[in-house]
Amino acid sequence: TANQMWGGRFAAGPDAIMEAINASIGFDKRMAAQDIAGSRAHAAMLGATGILEPSDVQAIREGLLTVLSEIEAGTFQFSTALEDIHMNVEARLKQIIGEPAGRLHTGRSRNDQVATDFKLWVRDQLDAAEQGLIALIGALLDQAEAGADWVMPGFTHLQTAQPVTWGHHMMAYVEMFGRDLCRVRDARARMNTSPLGAAALAGTSFPIDRHMTAEALGFDAPAANSLDAVSDRDFALEFLGAASICAMHLSRFAEELVIWSSAQFRFVSLSDRFSTGSSIMPQKKNPDAAELIRAKVGRIFGANTALMMVMKGLPLTYSKDMQEDKEQVFDAADNLMLALAVMTGMVGDMTANRESLAAAAGSGFSTATDLADWLVRVLGLPFRDAHHITGSIVALAESRGCDLPDLTLDDMTSVYEGITAEVFEVLGVENSVRSRTSYGGTAPEQVRAQIARWKELMA
Ligand code: ARG
Repeated sequence: TANQMWGGRFAAGPDAIMEAINASIGFDKRMAAQDIAGSRAHAAMLGATGILEPSDVQAIREGLLTVLSEIEAGTFQFSTALEDIHMNVEARLKQIIGEPAGRLHTGRSRNDQVATDFKLWVRDQLDAAEQGLIALIGALLDQAEAGADWVMPGFTHLQTAQPVTWGHHMMAYVEMFGRDLCRVRDARARMNTSPLGAAALAGTSFPIDRHMTAEALGFDAPAANSLDAVSDRDFALEFLGAASICAMHLSRFAEELVIWSSAQFRFVSLSDRFSTGSSIMPQKKNPDAAELIRAKVGRIFGANTALMMVMKGLPLTYSKDMQEDKEQVFDAADNLMLALAVMTGMVGDMTANRESLAAAAGSGFSTATDLADWLVRVLGLPFRDAHHITGSIVALAESRGCDLPDLTLDDMTSVYEGITAEVFEVLGVENSVRSRTSYGGTAPEQVRAQIARWKELMA
């Protein structure tokens, strides 16, 4: 039998395999609450503008609440033959209230309806991501505060570069996730216009009030061009873009946690609550949570790419291709929220091993730059010469199998005569980090100033 929603011109129903490719109810039922909220706003507006009788609006409002409660209770029978959430809800409404249900779709199309539902859904995810990021930043600030002056090696090329502080390293991630927070907020502000009432693509001849429905649904304004309103999925792409960058940050941090929790590094201990064991090796405590977070960027970035490919060649306005937007966004959102929550838990629980960090901070000739700077500052050498002399001193230490502070003054002067005993003051890691007082540098006073700034921003 032909479809009850659009089958007027059809003699036969769809082939089973056609139904399989066409139906979206298997996934778009996740937008049921948004669909009903949109319909309630639309019905109230149809009443307020006199397009529908108050009695019809009343019946629709009550019927939609019944449908919502059935969906929430899990008793709603979803039908693949009814294609999607929009037609499933409307068909059930018809069973409950009869004829007035058929008046709900006045001045509306599934094209503006789905755009509205999906926007509302994505907007909720932007809000959830915002909360997830705030929680993660809070956990990082706690870690930074606890170890604002704990020394550790800073790396470039994953080779020891210069000593930094634990707090400084944690605050680097606060900056990254802080930018993610801004991106999420920016995206929300930009996407917050209502497609509802754009109808199929051209608007409608009914005297609808799009400002009223926009306001009822928490949008700042109606989308200003009906063609754009039904064909725009930028909001989903901006969410996926922000989610991809955030997942990339999570992945980099996860990678560091994997390295840092190894027996070779011992920079951090992850809690039992966020680790797993091995079924054969009794000693193992594996950072599975960090590894899984590290991998999540793959599917989130994949979703971003997939939706870009879906949208890139579509002529205006709606094409059914756009039904392929939802699963990508659903999956990316689920995995982003999971990764944020797990990272927050892991960071909150983890213990930085202050001694291991300090021991590593002094190894690998990490204060060589301090030595070169000293030659410039105290002996007045050009930096390039100081660099060369320091390189020779590092080579000497390496041949002795010791670190820079273990060399004697005679060792030093054998390379460059003018060096005096005060040089040893700058070879210690504590002095090194304390000296990096430039704005944004690793000196504990700078780190504490940044922690205070962020705490104020987050309050
Ligand atoms: N299920 C559809 C989607 O997700 C709803 C819009 C259908 N519109 C149409 N003209 N067939 O995109």
